This record gives sequence, C-alpha cells and structure tokens, in this order.
Amino acid sequence: MKTINDIDVKNKNVLVRVDYNVPIQESKITDDLRIRASLPTIQKLLDSGAKRIILISHLGRPDGEENPDFSLSKVAEKLRDLLPNQKIGFYPLPKTDQKAEIPADIKIALLENLRFDPGEEKNSKEFIKNIIDSYEIDLFVQDGFAVTHRAHASTDAVKNFLSVYAGLLVEKEVKNLGKIIENPEKPVLLIIGGAKVEDKQPLIEKFLSQADNIVVGGKIAADGYKTSDKKIYIAEDFDENTEGKKLDIGPLATAKLAGFITDAKTIIWNGLLGYAEDPAYATASTITAELMGEKTDATTVVCGGDTTGFVENLMKDHKTLNYSLVSTGGGAALEFLLGKEMPGLKAIQA
Ligand code: 3PG
Repeated sequence: MKTINDIDVKNKNVLVRVDYNVPIQESKITDDLRIRASLPTIQKLLDSGAKRIILISHLGRPDGEENPDFSLSKVAEKLRDLLPNQKIGFYPLPKTDQKAEIPADIKIALLENLRFDPGEEKNSKEFIKNIIDSYEIDLFVQDGFAVTHRAHASTDAVKNFLSVYAGLLVEKEVKNLGKIIENPEKPVLLIIGGAKVEDKQPLIEKFLSQADNIVVGGKIAADGYKTSDKKIYIAEDFDENTEGKKLDIGPLATAKLAGFITDAKTIIWNGLLGYAEDPAYATASTITAELMGEKTDATTVVCGGDTTGFVENLMKDHKTLNYSLVSTGGGAALEFLLGKEMPGLKAIQA
C-alpha cells in the first residue's frame, strides 16, 4: 500500500478524505478521537510543503440533503482549537463547474458534509470530479479508515481520476488490524463485551480458529451467552445491583481475564465488560484497559466506539497507558477483522 511517505507533495493541492463522523450532543463534540487521529497526516503534509490541504468528510446520514444538524461547522471549530497556528477555512461543497476562491493564506480548508449531496453515497464520478476540478487537486489521500468499508464517491469513484495514497491513520489501522488477522504472535486473546450478541457472534466465530482464548463478558454474558467451545471463557460471576441486575463481571471472571491478558502476545478488545457509564460497574473494564495499556510485550488493539471512548477517557488521567491501536474504525474495523472487502482500501495504490 503506497502512503504519503512515498510521494512528493511539495507545492501540491492535496485532497484528503478523513472521517470526522463524530458524536455531537447539544452542539458539543463528545468524542474527538477521529479528529485528533487525523492530525499526523495533516502535519506531515504541511511539513512536506503541500500547497493546500482540502479535507473532506461526512457526518451522520443526512440522506443527500443539506441539513444544519449535520453540518461539519463544529468540527471546523475543533480543528482550529487543535491546530492553533493554522488558518483553517470552512467552505460549502462547490457547485457544478464552480472554481473555488480561497484566500492565499488559507493552507487548510474543510469542506461541508459530503453527504449533503446525493452523489457521495451514490458513488458518483461527476460529484467527486467536480470537487477535484474546483480545487485544482493534484493528489488524493485516503485517511478516513472508518469509512473505507463504504463504496462512496470519496472512497471509490475518486480512483478514476487520481492515484489514491494512504494517510498515516489508514496505514496505522491497517498495519495493526492486519497483524491480528495475518500471523498474530501467540497466544492470541479476544475479549468480547457489549450488549448485542448478533453484532459480536461473527467476530467470535471468525476468531475461533486463530485465538487461543476468547473471553465473553458484558451484557452478552449477563444475558446467558452459551457455548460448548473450550476456548471460550464466559464470565462466571457478576457484580449486581440491589435488584439483582448483573451490571459488571465479577472478581473471579476479572481475575481469570487478567491472567489471560498477562500471558497474551496479541490482544483485541471489543465491547465494555459492564455498565461502565456508572463508575460502580466499570471495575472490570478499567482493570482490562489498565492491564492492556501497561503491556509492553504484546500487540494491543481496542476497537468499537464505546470501548475506545472509555479507554480514551481513562488515558486522560493515566498518561502512561499505551496501546498499539485505539481504532477509529467502528464498523469498518469489524468488517476488516471479518475479512470483508473494503472498497476504500482496495482503491489505494499497491
Ligand atoms: C462510522 O461511523 O461507522 C463511519 O463514519 C461510517 O458511517 P456510516 O455507517 O454512516 O456509513
């Protein structure tokens, strides 16, 4: 996979697909992992002398209609906070055959939500070509790992007009997730939590052959998940509230999981182990996050929005915690791990 390290970007206009599909509540971004994760690529392009960086992303599912509830304006503000030394412009999608007019001192421009135009999700060549022409784009960088499972104009059709290079985030996600499915160092441990068994079962089945141990906790275990497979350890005890509701895996299960984590050389964690929104029931998830983040002898990957959000929060107070990857991927990471086709990755230059 060719990356931005393989190309000369000096004096070039670079179109960068990022995934700024971040949660926004009451006008506030509640999790900015995906925005922060895009910064290394932006910085690298700036340091390498790119003339201008045009960032494109979607936010939510506005179904091809302009809808202020799905505007990327809050993301533009966040980017300005994160890159205080840069002037960052925020512009609507260009109209057909409209040449973009941007002040010369604007090195970084974020365009409005791609999904305000039906062409994005329809994988329209005309739609992406219009952006390329309007901004006189020379190079295209795919850094929106979380959207690479979609065949959209900015992940797929774009390859018809420009060579596609991976950004540093896509490179990091693919390298670490790839390591897990191809030749992982053993023992391999898969930790599964969360609420919806139908979402997790494919991952459990996929890992049955390659994992040495699979631990199932969270609501799935509390609801009575059953298996006869010897590799799978289902939490055997739980912390309960006064009404007898099982809200976290208990000390026996947590100790067993801690032992697996200590021995493992490859660990992938998807899904919280208890009702971690309430600190009283975040014990098992906290211990898991700490043990994984303290390991220096293993590949450690955290994925799934709730789990990565939890780990990111913990990292704010525990600066020494370190993971091989806190994936921005969401659904894309799961599809990658399941070996599904990823149009946005297939489009990248080999
Ligand atoms: C995600 O959050 O999983 C990605 O941004 C993709 O969004 P989508 O599921 O609306 O295509």
